[in-house]
Amino acid sequence: MALEEEGFKIINNITWQKTNPPPNLACKTFTHSTETILWARKDFKHFKYTFNYDVMKKLNNNKQMKDVWTTSLTKPSEKKQGKHPTQKPLEILEKVILASTKENDLILDPFCGSSTTGIAANKLNRNYIGIDNSKEYLDLSIRRYYEIKE
Ligand SMILES: C[S@@+](CC[C@H](N)C(=O)[O-])C[C@H]1O[C@@H](n2cnc3c(N)ncnc32)[C@H](O)[C@@H]1O
Repeated sequence: MALEEEGFKIINNITWQKTNPPPNLACKTFTHSTETILWARKDFKHFKYTFNYDVMKKLNNNKQMKDVWTTSLTKPSEKKQGKHPTQKPLEILEKVILASTKENDLILDPFCGSSTTGIAANKLNRNYIGIDNSKEYLDLSIRRYYEIKE
């Protein structure tokens, strides 16, 4: 509703299904094992958005990519420079960027945390601006950037 009030239309509601979610210690509900990615576009008359249909199909053994993406939680190898409490798996952000941007596009993440978006953008030859109100997380982002540069 908030997106629509700001003039956006939802294109897809993608579910990230975690293969190894943390256990539910209270045992009073189902184990939380999904997160939602909302893909939205500006609702202007002639606004064209990017969807790299063929790239996604190729990634999915030549079958149409579905809106349920299954991966493990963020791997320890992606946390060598320090931890962010909600750091997303690089694989998920790579898929988001490959699906919806072109090479040399500029990607803005205004709540960047450890900059998984930026790491994926850099790997895939996109430009990136990340914003966070925590210096700790911006420093972590810089360390992650230099790690892949080296
Ligand atoms: C869900 S985390 C992003 C995690 C990121 N996707 C990653 O993979 O590391 C959201 C981030 O937004 C930051 N944040 C919260 N409120 C903010 C604000 N008003 N301005 C800028 N950043 C903010 C938090 O410090 C936090 O790192």
